[in-house]
Amino acid sequence: MELFYRVSFQEVVADALILVREHEMSSKHALERVFRRVTGKDREKARGLAHAYVFEIEKWRAKIDFIINSVLKGSTVEDLDPYLANLLRIGTFEIHFRKVPPAIATDSIIRVVKEKFDFSRAKFVNALMHSIEKFDVEKALERLKEKDRIEWLSVRFSHPRWYVEYAIELFGYEEAVRLLLSNNKPQRYYVRANTLKTDVDSLRAYLEENGVRTALTPVPDVLKVLEYETPVTRLDWYKQGKFVIQDLASAYVAHVLAPEPGERVLDLAAAPGSKTFHAAALMENRGEIVAVDYSYDRLMRMKEKMKLLGIENVRLVHADGQSFRDKEGFDKIILDAPCSSSGTYRQFPEVKWHFSEEKIGRIISVQRNMLRNAYENLRDGGEMTYSTCSIRIDENEENVLFAIDRVGLELVPYDFSWGDRGFLEVGDKVFRAWTHRHDCNSFFIAKMGRH
Ligand SMILES: C[S@@+](CC[C@H](N)C(=O)[O-])C[C@H]1O[C@@H](n2cnc3c(N)ncnc32)[C@H](O)[C@@H]1O
Repeated sequence: MELFYRVSFQEVVADALILVREHEMSSKHALERVFRRVTGKDREKARGLAHAYVFEIEKWRAKIDFIINSVLKGSTVEDLDPYLANLLRIGTFEIHFRKVPPAIATDSIIRVVKEKFDFSRAKFVNALMHSIEKFDVEKALERLKEKDRIEWLSVRFSHPRWYVEYAIELFGYEEAVRLLLSNNKPQRYYVRANTLKTDVDSLRAYLEENGVRTALTPVPDVLKVLEYETPVTRLDWYKQGKFVIQDLASAYVAHVLAPEPGERVLDLAAAPGSKTFHAAALMENRGEIVAVDYSYDRLMRMKEKMKLLGIENVRLVHADGQSFRDKEGFDKIILDAPCSSSGTYRQFPEVKWHFSEEKIGRIISVQRNMLRNAYENLRDGGEMTYSTCSIRIDENEENVLFAIDRVGLELVPYDFSWGDRGFLEVGDKVFRAWTHRHDCNSFFIAKMGRH
């Protein structure tokens, strides 16, 4: 039996938001999943728009929830049925951020509520939407600013409260605000030439011919995208694997490690593979890279990408990076550890809401186990990079101190050609990039060795 039914745009967005929130999926994967059941001539257009909705709703979640909570008086949006809560978020977003006429925004979500719930819930949502429409956000924010300045920043710029406190502690008030602002700006794209197939000058010329204006960066094989007519992922060279999209700071890691052709390299948290692929290119496909990750799905995606990029010296291993051992040992190790992702808010706004202090505490213990394990896998004289896309000192400098004091690793002096230095007593020997200062993900790199 074949069945056809209509799905509204609001339903698709609400479904994707459920996957992002309840299952901690990235916006991209959540939309891939929900669009599997969407057909029709407007599918691609709807997909682009749905992506913009999910991305922006996740980015502005604290502000959107502030509006809804203010009109709920007493209870919070988190107390509602999650699907209903997401419909309210969509409605609020449309009225206050997209300036959709309130009657249209309300009507579109009421239709879904009637279909998925019941008449009394539709009445309830209708009344709430009227209050949301009338709600004076600016006035309410002024009041909040007088009462609790940190909470005000957290709502106004839509960041977790802990992040706001952390940023002020690191930078002082004014610069912290600059960081929050920069996290809310549109994503900056960088492309890395796949030197197995081309070089950066040829890539630059090709992009120019195709209407993409770029600038050189401090990372030799990486270009900054300034302007484009067509998204770079639609260009032939992208489809042929001649370049990849990779953040500037992320693409610095392999250069700091500097793996050489013929060496044995281990990547302990490899998927989705940006740094493994980069290392393979620097090694000119010679030697061996063992790429470990505990996500099978992500490893499978790496396999596809490797074919496209012409990479032949990588062995994928589905294992736990805290315990994976290989008797032969390695000359170099990349440990790009799982982390709070607090440096990637501009790129992945949904991660702002995925990490509690408790969860970050558990991640730090995984990072430390991985550092211990990296040491065990490193040959005497071997070198490694420890990197994260976290802004936090406990995931970065404190872990480096742990690696020195408790694991036996040493810091290797490295002449970082750009970026900032870090904090604590190891601060002058480590690398930090910041979204507001360097126009890329906030990032940490330390080079260490076993001697
Ligand atoms: C920051 S990402 C790595 C990004 C990757 N290095 C790149 O450049 O594309 C962290 C990765 O660690 C993996 N991971 C988390 N815990 C792990 C563990 N215990 N063992 C191995 N991999 C783990 C996750 O699946 C995720 O792919």
